[in-house]
Amino acid sequence: MAGIAGIFRRKSVEQIQAEHAHGELKRSLGALNLVLLGIGCIIGTGIFVLTGHAAAEWAGPGIMISFVITGLLCAFVALCYAELASALPVSGSAYSYSYASMGEGAAWIMGLLLLLEYGLAASTVAVGWSGYVISLLKDMHIVIPIEFTTAPGPIKNAAGVVIGHGIMNLPAIIGIVAVTALLVIGITETARANNIIVFIKLAVVLAFIIVCSRFVHPALWHPLVPAEVPAPPPGTPMDLPHQIGRALMDVITGKKSSHYGLGGVIHGAAVIFFAYIGFEAVSTAGAESKNPGRDMPIGILGALVICTILYIATSAVLVGIVPYASLDGPAPIATAVDQIGMPWFAVLVKIGAIAGLSSVMLVLLYGQTRIFYTMSRDGLLPSSLAVVHKRFKTPWINTIIVGATAVGAAGFLSLDTLSDLTNVGSLAAFAIVCITVLYLRISHPEMPRPFRTPLFPLTPILGAIMCLFLLMSLMAIPTTRNFFLIYLVVGIVLYFLYGMRNSKLGKGIRVEGHEAEPMELPHPEE
Ligand code: ALA
Repeated sequence: MAGIAGIFRRKSVEQIQAEHAHGELKRSLGALNLVLLGIGCIIGTGIFVLTGHAAAEWAGPGIMISFVITGLLCAFVALCYAELASALPVSGSAYSYSYASMGEGAAWIMGLLLLLEYGLAASTVAVGWSGYVISLLKDMHIVIPIEFTTAPGPIKNAAGVVIGHGIMNLPAIIGIVAVTALLVIGITETARANNIIVFIKLAVVLAFIIVCSRFVHPALWHPLVPAEVPAPPPGTPMDLPHQIGRALMDVITGKKSSHYGLGGVIHGAAVIFFAYIGFEAVSTAGAESKNPGRDMPIGILGALVICTILYIATSAVLVGIVPYASLDGPAPIATAVDQIGMPWFAVLVKIGAIAGLSSVMLVLLYGQTRIFYTMSRDGLLPSSLAVVHKRFKTPWINTIIVGATAVGAAGFLSLDTLSDLTNVGSLAAFAIVCITVLYLRISHPEMPRPFRTPLFPLTPILGAIMCLFLLMSLMAIPTTRNFFLIYLVVGIVLYFLYGMRNSKLGKGIRVEGHEAEPMELPHPEE
């Protein structure tokens, strides 16, 4: 049995590359394909739903500044991803990078974090998708009973009055079940559909910005950062970790983290971080990129820059049309277009949002099943998760388990809870990626790196610090913090009970090439 030193056992870069058999994959993706792939994964519930929530609850019109802050953070992280993706162009994820650099323990923790980043993110997107489906059905005079449109708990209207009690979010459950079924059957032929959906999504966002900008009342942008509303209410007892989180915020912002005010803008940045998740998916196509050294950075950063500009413009228009306090609904973009009195345009935007959100849901669940698949083949998870269906050639047991978990989360957890947990997991994963870049530069200075992050070591250090800073801001929320810490502790215990004992690397067993479809996400065709 492996000893505690197993935590540090590493796969060699050559071994990871051999396992992924990337030589069989066609190197067909150019920079434009990679940019489109990134945009396809990025634009989703973050901009279509969470922007409204973050503006109403945390940042007010300052949400525009929140998007700039998070865009900057993601640029630092993206440069780090670009370096790793060009140096290790394997069809893996941050999990593979960790296994090759910091060892099995770090890879396991990365696996835990990616489950939040992909698995829970899919549920978060499903809840956003549900909001737009409900809004569109309402336009067609089909009304789903309110109890079946939200997670268990009191349902409040815009004025904060309780109007019912949620039982489950049925449309979100149906969305995940449909996507899971597609994934079990196999989706290798979806590249063209994915291309079309990316363009529809871009068209909807651009149309929203252009058409709605005529209806903006600049007065609604003032004050850009509304006065601070102290939170938690005076007298609320705070436990120690909460106090530490708040104290850190106070040091850096000079204020208390709160609704509105600078603290609110920073918390808003942490909330809308969800909108940026997905740019790193470009790195998973490393093995199919024509010229990773040049195209990876262009793909990752290009997608990020385009989305950042679109996000800032969309949020400016949104808070310029609807008073920010009224934006905390399940479909804020729909609320805004409903308000400008162009019903046909509202229907188009909703259909576009539903199509766009469907593809993000698909890509995220797909990514999650492939991460479990890789971990299972490494022996860190049970081998049933790598069983490939004879006919469909998909890891079907794995997909059904992932789908069932996502159904539970999407149907019974609120959007806030889901997005906060996804953000916490992703921020921690991104911080580890930045630290991996630092680690590899020191431990493997000679390793060929077709792309090197500029301003080293500043870029990875700033990226890691900013991620940890936003993470602290989210950890100030007790439910998020408690769930995350318990989740990590249980996950780490499971490693010692199962992963470490069954690791193929630990037993000296070589993992052979893949049988399932490769781990790449659906990508635009040449
Ligand atoms: N960034 C993706 C979204 O906003 C995950 O839905």
